[in-house]
Amino acid sequence: MTTQRTAAHSGRLEVIAGPMFSGKSEELMRRVRRAKIAGVKVAVISHALDTRADLSAITSHIGVNIPAVAVPDVATLAEVVAAEDCELVAIDEAQFFGPALVPLVGELVAAGTTVIVEGLCVTFDGGPFEPMPTFMAIAEDVLKLTAVCTVCGRDAVFHQRIPAAEAAAESADGSPGGTAGETVAATEIDASHVGGLESYVARCREHFAPPAAPSAR
Ligand code: ADP
Ligand code: TMP
Ligand code: MG
Repeated sequence: MTTQRTAAHSGRLEVIAGPMFSGKSEELMRRVRRAKIAGVKVAVISHALDTRADLSAITSHIGVNIPAVAVPDVATLAEVVAAEDCELVAIDEAQFFGPALVPLVGELVAAGTTVIVEGLCVTFDGGPFEPMPTFMAIAEDVLKLTAVCTVCGRDAVFHQRIPAAEAAAESADGSPGGTAGETVAATEIDASHVGGLESYVARCREHFAPPAAPSAR
């Protein structure tokens, strides 16, 4: 039996996953730079919710950046990619796009595009953060990175909110998450969760302390 290979089947999904500070954005930028040197047409996508630095760039925690197009949702991402007619699509902060990103990435890969999806696979309360676990299951290639635990220096697969930042996110009536009267679940995409070194620390399994469940009122 012979195996048929066609251009329509040359698409590929690559995943870069891990906790905050694990070097996901640095690795994405490295791959994009290499592709550009090779003359590959690349679309670099970031999410408009990530307002930590320049919206027109992906920026690492130490300030290295590359140009990117910031989009607010999956529909806009699809429009940008269609307009750019690119061979490689690199997506930063995939967790901000939610599960709706999965079918779009599937379509792009089926059409022959290489897609690199980079994002958090775990929330600040230690649970799976979709859509990254799904992408990890269906990808041709998965790189799972770890950060450095800020307590002991071992491999960190978790991250947790710094108490002062958590307190700052509380609304005037004292409810967590920044929205009056409502608790924002860790799996929710919410501006109150956006942050960097001032808001989160990397933690190994031993030193990770998940947030206490909100008390009943
Ligand atoms: P990510 O996108 O995964 O959050 P970045 O690629 O933006 O990570 O930044 C990774 C860089 O963050 C590291 O190379 C290092 O310089 C810095 N850094 C700060 N805190 C830590 C930590 N606890 N563990 C590892 N790297 C850290
Ligand atoms: P990073 O992976 O480049 O460090 O960025 C992660 C972003 O995601 C950062 O803005 C904080 C945010 N975030 C959430 O929205 N929910 C979470 O559960 C965690 C841990 C981070
Ligand atoms: Mg990043």
